[in-house]
Amino acid sequence: MRDLPSPQTDRPLPRIGHHTLPNRVILAPMAGVTDRPFRQLCRELGAGLVVSEMVTADSRLWNSRKSRQRRIHRGEPGPRSVQIAGGDPQMLAEAARLNADAGAEIIDINMGCPAKKVCNKAAGSALLRDERLVADILDAVVAAVDIPVTLKIRTGWCAESRNAERVAKLAENAGIAALAVHGRTREQRYTGSAEYDTIAAIKQQVSIPVFANGDVTTPQRAAEVLAYTGADAVMIGRGAQGNPWLFREIEHYLRTGDEHASPCAEEIAATMQRHLRALHDHYGEYLGVRVARKHVGWYLAASDPSREHRARFNRLEQATQQFEFLHELFRGDAAIGNGIHAA
Ligand SMILES: Cc1cc2nc3c(=O)[nH]c(=O)nc-3n(C[C@H](O)[C@H](O)[C@H](O)COP(=O)(O)O)c2cc1C
Repeated sequence: MRDLPSPQTDRPLPRIGHHTLPNRVILAPMAGVTDRPFRQLCRELGAGLVVSEMVTADSRLWNSRKSRQRRIHRGEPGPRSVQIAGGDPQMLAEAARLNADAGAEIIDINMGCPAKKVCNKAAGSALLRDERLVADILDAVVAAVDIPVTLKIRTGWCAESRNAERVAKLAENAGIAALAVHGRTREQRYTGSAEYDTIAAIKQQVSIPVFANGDVTTPQRAAEVLAYTGADAVMIGRGAQGNPWLFREIEHYLRTGDEHASPCAEEIAATMQRHLRALHDHYGEYLGVRVARKHVGWYLAASDPSREHRARFNRLEQATQQFEFLHELFRGDAAIGNGIHAA
């Protein structure tokens, strides 16, 4: 990818329907990760838009604890984007309606997820193989709600059928308000590197906002990808795990061309504590303690090569023990705090 200038101040900020985003950095939907506590944290640290974990379009399944918890977004700052996944146009339309009634301000349709569970039901990225069905779904969902509908896709099913450009056109014609593209095919899952040529080609062909997704983990990379593709924003998934500060760092770099200072050990400790508290509150102590293990594992990944700290943390069963652990970790060795951000 060629080197290009970083400040991105000369172009209008992306709009999704009547919502103008405050910047060009978006948190990608990640099932099991972008729950309400994590969305809130990323928003506070500079994400211009956050997208919820996907919710199945089959509302008969919404009474499970997991679905109920995923659908709590009332009171969150806007715009609240809720992702739905499924393969049946009418079911997706009904799910969009119900989520809009429950406070969603943007509906995002998942045609990017490679997960088996979703694909066995011909949903997620499996839909890309059937352009007729894609069009039917987009028409049905757009007609069902009076809030903007966005779409998230991969570049295609496999290398031989990279049809994202055609799908992007279908999306624009159907009235989709913005399109996020992960620069991999479904067949690639998460292997290899994301490619951005398809995203650049799509951007040339449609006039709706395009968000570039895949392997963006640094401010410099974000600037390169925006410049190379002409996309309106970058969407960040795995790069934000254990590193919610990435959003403000990218935002700052895109706006000024300068690097934002890394968070100091005190800020890292305070952020992790806030995150833990929010997880315990959101899920209750039993589940919150378990969900916290995953996030703390990501925070500690770079500073704990022997996995000793993570193994200890994972054995803790109570919320207070988790707070004490963090307290000791940062009191005992500030270098650990400083090392965390290298993740
Ligand atoms: C744990 C995990 C869960 C994901 N869940 C979803 C999902 O619910 N909906 C979706 O559209 N994409 C999902 N994705 C894909 C991401 O949104 C994103 O497209 C992908 O991770 C590539 O971006 P990245 O390289 O910045 O991580 C998930 C990815 C991960 C790693």
